[in-house]
Amino acid sequence: MKNILITGGAGFIGSNFIRYLLEKEPDLEIIDLDILGYAGSLENLKGLPDPERHTFVQGDICDADLVNKLMQEHKIDTIVHFAAESHVDRSILGPAPFVQTNVFGTLTLLEAAKQAWGDTRRDTPSAGEQNGHFHHISTDEVFGTLAPDEPAFVESTAYDPRSPYSASKASSDHLVRSYFHTYGLPLTVTNCSNNYGPYQFPEKLIPLMILNATQGKPLPIYGDGLQIRDWLHVEDHCEAIYLVLKGGKMGETYNVGGGNQPANLDLVNRICSILDLVHPASVPYSSLISYVRDRPGHDRRYAVDSSKIKAELGWEPHHSLEEGLSDTVKWYLDNMDWVETILKEKDYQAWLDKNYEERGKK
Ligand code: NAD
Ligand code: DAU
Repeated sequence: MKNILITGGAGFIGSNFIRYLLEKEPDLEIIDLDILGYAGSLENLKGLPDPERHTFVQGDICDADLVNKLMQEHKIDTIVHFAAESHVDRSILGPAPFVQTNVFGTLTLLEAAKQAWGDTRRDTPSAGEQNGHFHHISTDEVFGTLAPDEPAFVESTAYDPRSPYSASKASSDHLVRSYFHTYGLPLTVTNCSNNYGPYQFPEKLIPLMILNATQGKPLPIYGDGLQIRDWLHVEDHCEAIYLVLKGGKMGETYNVGGGNQPANLDLVNRICSILDLVHPASVPYSSLISYVRDRPGHDRRYAVDSSKIKAELGWEPHHSLEEGLSDTVKWYLDNMDWVETILKEKDYQAWLDKNYEERGKK
């Protein structure tokens, strides 16, 4: 691993991973390809450790000429593919960009990798020789939804995506695996659960609730608020990806989950309690909770079984939800300049109007 192409490195998880990698790998050169869409910002890349080893390129992963040029010019030997349209609610209001970036964009990267590293199922280079590593970041949402008593998702759980977002991610996962079987492309996949932590765009549950609360705005709970997600601190996710890059077996998939599964309502109440302590207001923040119309096709429960990555690569999450959530609340309170710049840059209000106004109160 000398020259790595990171796609989507100006987004939430990608920018955290770049920070992590620059600390971990002192000789690595990072090429960061990001279109700087609504969720990507150079603000997320300010103050990187050792920034001269990070080259930012603004561009589209669907642009085959650009991707091929980067592969050649920078002698890329590793790709970590984060770039995606990532928000379920946006996919419900407009699925087409999800198919374009998540499916077509992934295909473009796979083709570029095959062109650069050869087709080991034929004769370029000799079969079995590993000339690169393509790591694809996927999600637990491809497995669909769990009933209360069903066991957690394992790597062999059948795919059952139920939103345009998860359907596009499932498509990309199938394409990625097909390149291993058909062309021998050296690759791995991780399917992880809901990430939280610094630099997350405030359309997602945790930062949205923190910001709404500090502004005295309603805290919109979809439906009855008893849906369950498996919360994973972004730094624990970065470590899992790093371990897969170092020791993952080619062609394999690894599930990564935080092992923290409160219902949404419980999670929002915990955020309110933390804010009551560190940023007290005249009334408890939980009084802002407001039930709104549910997300169509809302998956009820996710839970991820991470036994394989724990047993094979020694991964363990280090952040408890209690401490991780408290740190995240404090990070947003301490970084209001970042918040304000991001919100101004990205026309955030237009999204809030579109997603929440018509939801109203239940
Ligand atoms: P994000 O929305 O914060 O960031 C996505 C980044 O991709 C942005 O910087 C955006 O500008 C960039 N991008 C979008 N389209 C692009 C294109 N066509 N070309 C180049 N760049 C493009 O998303 P995130 O939360 O950081 O998620 C990163 C990856 O992890 C995604 O693949 C997502 O599906 C996956 N994932 C996320 C979570 C989570 O909880 N956030 C959980 C599981 C999996
Ligand atoms: O599970 C992994 C997935 O987690 C990733 O693949 C996605 O990229 C990521 O966005 C996330 O998807 P979710 O839909 O689970 O995340 P979101 O933060 O949008 O919502 C979390 C839960 O909170 C979900 O049950 C919907 C609910 N919710 C969300 C918002 C934004 C609310 O009740 N109110 C809200 O305003």
